[in-house]
Amino acid sequence: PASPAERLKKNRQQARTHKMIQIHETDITTLSVDAIVNAANETLLGGGGVDGAIHRAAGPKLLDHCRGLGGCRTGSARITPGFALPARFVIHTVGPVWKGGQSGEAEQLRSCYLESFRLAEESRIKSIAFPAISTGVYGYPSIEAASIATQTMLEHESDFDVIIACCFSAADVTVYETALGRKPPAPSN
Ligand code: APR
Repeated sequence: PASPAERLKKNRQQARTHKMIQIHETDITTLSVDAIVNAANETLLGGGGVDGAIHRAAGPKLLDHCRGLGGCRTGSARITPGFALPARFVIHTVGPVWKGGQSGEAEQLRSCYLESFRLAEESRIKSIAFPAISTGVYGYPSIEAASIATQTMLEHESDFDVIIACCFSAADVTVYETALGRKPPAPSN
């Protein structure tokens, strides 16, 4: 095993290059991580998009469990077992519906990431994957959302072995690579 000095050197090296933050283009339900984050709604009783995919892959026990949680406010998060998912836990968070950006949406979206990280740290979770919360049905502009998401990931990366930004399109991969400075911004024509 690596000596403490070697581990420290590795962490410092990774920290400089933010290697702990990975961008994947895949279906989040396939990831064998400690926790995947669900972009849920306030009922926590399932829906479409990634919420629907997670409930389908976790099986009906997840919905039964969520029935007993009493919902979740926008900007908050709740943790459940992953049931039939490869992930051990699901952290359900409720993103803001985009209303033009003047209704506190940015603070609410940031709170989704911060509350998800807080629950993950409380449960000693070391690997976590996030979808692009609120950027689907809830209409949050992808670039602004990715900027908020990656900022919180950078703030928390030293507490995790891996943080995955799980994109569902090549376009989102590019948005996240640009947000993390891994790709030059497209020339603004
Ligand atoms: N894996 C990873 N990402 C996914 C998956 C998947 N299987 N399915 C969809 N996504 C992506 C979408 O492409 C989008 O980028 O997740 C992001 C969030 O989109 P939505 O799932 O529509 O979530 P959101 O915009 O937060 O809206 C939440 O939609 O499904 C309902 O019950 C949910 O009412 C809630 C609302």
